[in-house]
Formats: sequence, structure tokens, C-alpha cells
Amino acid sequence: MSFFKITENIFSVGTLNPNLRVFDIVMETKFGTSYNSYVVRGKDRTALVDVNHEIFFDKYLANIEKVCDIEKINYIIINHCEPDHTGALAKLMRHCPQAEILASAAGTKYLREITNMPRLPVRAVSDGESIALGGKTLKFISAPMLHWPDSMFTYCEEDGILFSCDFFGAHYCEPYMLDTSVSYEKSYNEALAGYYKAIFSPFPKYVRNGLDKLDGMYLNMICPSHGPVLSRGGKLEYAVERYRLWSAEVDTGIEIPVFYCSAYGNTEKTAFAVREGIKSVLPDCSSECYNINEHSMQFLTEKINRSTAFAIGSPTINRDTVPVMWSLLAGIDAINSAGKGAVVFGSYGWSGEAVTNLVNRLKCLKINVIEELRVLFVPTEDDLEAARQTGMKIAHCTLYGGIS
Ligand code: FEO
Repeated sequence: MSFFKITENIFSVGTLNPNLRVFDIVMETKFGTSYNSYVVRGKDRTALVDVNHEIFFDKYLANIEKVCDIEKINYIIINHCEPDHTGALAKLMRHCPQAEILASAAGTKYLREITNMPRLPVRAVSDGESIALGGKTLKFISAPMLHWPDSMFTYCEEDGILFSCDFFGAHYCEPYMLDTSVSYEKSYNEALAGYYKAIFSPFPKYVRNGLDKLDGMYLNMICPSHGPVLSRGGKLEYAVERYRLWSAEVDTGIEIPVFYCSAYGNTEKTAFAVREGIKSVLPDCSSECYNINEHSMQFLTEKINRSTAFAIGSPTINRDTVPVMWSLLAGIDAINSAGKGAVVFGSYGWSGEAVTNLVNRLKCLKINVIEELRVLFVPTEDDLEAARQTGMKIAHCTLYGGIS
């Protein structure tokens, strides 16, 4: 049931998408998802918290109309502007044109572009500001990068309900979206973990900041924008505890993995020589060679994103690197990898564009490419020595911050 009462005068009015299998083009959603939205009715005013994807607009509108006169909605609170939460906003405004939209300062900028409405009645609210609806007070809490720079939470003080948008969300769908009604707990736990990994694992510092803001706050329920509502004594404590665990600081020491693919073993020989160079400078660091055709992309992207620095090598085929290498680069976390050191290498026969193309892509990601090395056909002993020197360079740069 996409519509249900959460507590006195607070209702879930979102929509369900149980058949969705890929979210936002890239994210597997084997348990479907929901686009949650909430109506908070005060004695004097009514607020809608989070909006919806546009695809189920009619159903969404019907849900809202079950609990309030849509024309009389006073506030539309946008905790986060991504179109799964704002795609329906432009259409919705035709039904409640007098509603004031409240968002973070960053959110106000995005919303006009997302709706293509230059005169959208949107107001920026600041961290700690609140609005009174009459017996329901909604307080805004800045929560940047959870999951975009615009993100904020909305907290209903009287009911102890946190509207957390993506934070504590899960791509999970059952007919009744309350944690105590979840029929397949293992699947829900998997969805919560998968969602965290995909959306928040690049931002552990911001997750910790978000969790710190919950300290001392009375939490009766958490109403995220995807997946079940979490209740005290249900899954609320579990979700908070998991987020603390997953975002905890981990010191793994220096890791400089070497990723390569190789058609005839020449780039592979070069990769092992690069690793020798790394280990000669940093014997205690973790540095392994990974033939990327022999590992899952998830394993490799985790390695590259966790690395202190990395080396990457590819032969040239059809004037380019190979598709599997592009897949690895597509998994690089652009935010946390900026400034990370890398070296690029590869064997070639005719023209050798793979190295150039990899370097260009890494530079787009603001990776600090320290050296590039090309080897013509089969590496000679001189080529292998050059590869060792390349490995030594990335190790030195890692150790001394760019001074090789
Ligand atoms: Fe559910 Fe970041 O949007």
C-alpha cells in the first residue's frame, strides 16, 4: 500500500515501483523501489515533504488528495533535488500554485533548472531554521552530500520523526512500506546495505557528520525517501547502527594496486615490473597486480577507490584501450579520487593510443598522473627497468606527496 497513516496527521503518500530492476540507469534494484513522500498536517498549515518521480504522477496526486486539499498545501519541502524526488514538482505546482517551496540554498538553484520554472516560488531555509504548522514544528537540518550538496533533513519535533530523504533509504518494495511489515527481512537488509554502498560509501565523512546530527535527537521514526519507514524497536536502531559501522574510519595503510589487461603478455610483464619498483621503495605497502579480466568489476572498483595511488596498464586495440578498462575507469569515485596519484603504461604494436586515452580520462577525473610509459611490442630489459622506475616514482610520490 503506497498510502498509509504513519501517526496522527502524518501520512505516507508516495508511490511504489516493485518492478524496477535498474535505478538511474546504473543501479541494480532487484527488490524494486518506492518513491516516498509525506504529508504533515498541522492545525493551521499543511506541508508536503519530498515529492515524487514523475512516472506515477496520477497515483501520487490521488494519494495526496486522500489526506488533504491539494490546493491548500502551504509548503512543499524538498530535502533533495534529484529527479526521483522532484520529477513531479512542475506538474504538482499546477495543482497548488500558492505553495511555497522550501529547500537548502543549493537546492533552490537546482530546482529552477529541474522544473524549467524561473519564477518557481522557492525559498532557501538554513540549518536549524524551523516552521510551525500548528502543533507540528518542522526543523531543517543541513546534510550536504547525503546524497547531493543540496541535501537536508526535516525533523518533526513533536513526533520525533526524521524525514531523511535518501539517508537510510533502500531500494526495496513491498505492498506495505513500514519496517514492521517487511516480509523478507534478509532481502531488506541486503537492499539497505546495497543502497548505502552505491550512494553513501563514497562519502563516509559526510555520513558521520549526518549521524552526529542525530545524536541526542529523539527519534521515534525515520521516514526515508526510498524503502520502508523505520520505527523505534523495528529497524530504526539497526539502520543507524549499520550506518555507523559502514562509515567508521578504517586505516588500511598504503595500497598501490597495479591494474592491467594484456593480449600477449607484454603489458602483463610491464605490470609486474611496475610492481617490483613500487615494492622496492615501499616493501611493506600492499601492492598486487590485478589482471582485470580475472576479477569482478565490483572487486576492482573497490580496490581502485580504496587505493592510496594506483598503476594502470593496457595494450592498444583499435586505437584505444579495451572496453573492460573503460568499465573500471567508469567505477572510479570522482569525488574522493581527485588528487590521487597514478601511473599509466601499456605495450603497443602500431600507434599506442591506449596510454594517451587512459591518461586523458584520468586527468578528467582530476587524478594526478605522474608518469606514462609505452612499450613497443615485447618489453626489453631496458623497458622493464623503465617500468621499475615508473613504479618507484609512484611509490616516492605517495610517500613524499609528489616529490619523486
Ligand atoms: Fe533518491 Fe539521490 O535520490
